[in-house]
Amino acid sequence: MQHIAVPNGTIGVLAQGKGVPILFVHGFPLNHSMWQSQIDAFGQTCRAVAPDLRGFGESNMTAATATSKLTMEAFADDLHAILQAINVDRPVIFCGLSMGGYVAWQFLRKFRAQVKALILCDTRAAGDTPEAAAGRLKLAEQVLTLGPSAAADAMLSRLVSPKIAESRPEIVSELRAMILGNSPAAIAATLRGMAERPDCTPMLASVDVPTLLICGEDDKITPAAEMRTVAHAIRGSQFVEIPNAGHMSPMENSNAVNTAINQFLKAVG
Ligand code: MLT
Repeated sequence: MQHIAVPNGTIGVLAQGKGVPILFVHGFPLNHSMWQSQIDAFGQTCRAVAPDLRGFGESNMTAATATSKLTMEAFADDLHAILQAINVDRPVIFCGLSMGGYVAWQFLRKFRAQVKALILCDTRAAGDTPEAAAGRLKLAEQVLTLGPSAAADAMLSRLVSPKIAESRPEIVSELRAMILGNSPAAIAATLRGMAERPDCTPMLASVDVPTLLICGEDDKITPAAEMRTVAHAIRGSQFVEIPNAGHMSPMENSNAVNTAINQFLKAVG
């Protein structure tokens, strides 16, 4: 893991292999290790770059940032800075899960020339409903009072398909450890940022890079039906539904996700 200084903080990033760069951006409130199966699979033939977003995992932020909010745009700016710092000098395949997908829209909007293709896993384009935004602000207060376990308790049962939670409980344990490893301030600041994120549906018709959308069949947070709608709005995109998986499809059914990514990489060259 390298640690890169960016304005107001330090970003931890794992970079492995040579070739086409794939930027793996984790979901909330996790860290880069959710992509371990993909780093193992693609870190030989591609350049796998897997950062911890500001405030998560091994990335830090200043106290001033911690008291405010972390926006999807700020995360995109950090990613742009670290790609430059580690000399990624060609457009990346941006692979984001859930919140990583929210960041992908902002990265594409701001840094179009640096995007070769998009892989969007278990995510959405729409912003929060007023109810969802209010729920996030409430959870932010709970996390600041009770610690990261409040986020783990609120989210864990919805992250993983019930079938997988029963047959592979170690995935739930890994996710819990990732969540508990993050600071309450970062989790709260990110909840505030997600609550305010823009609706990106209007930009779908103008997405002009090859796009693969992936979703677990049991995803309760960003359901497959909603992702299909997003796929329909992106010209030429491809949608793959992953069996035996919920919201964390890259961890729950890594074989199926890696096969879909591999076929997509062959198609985009
Ligand atoms: C995530 O996995 O990143 C979160 O579920 C996103 C969200 O809460 O909208």
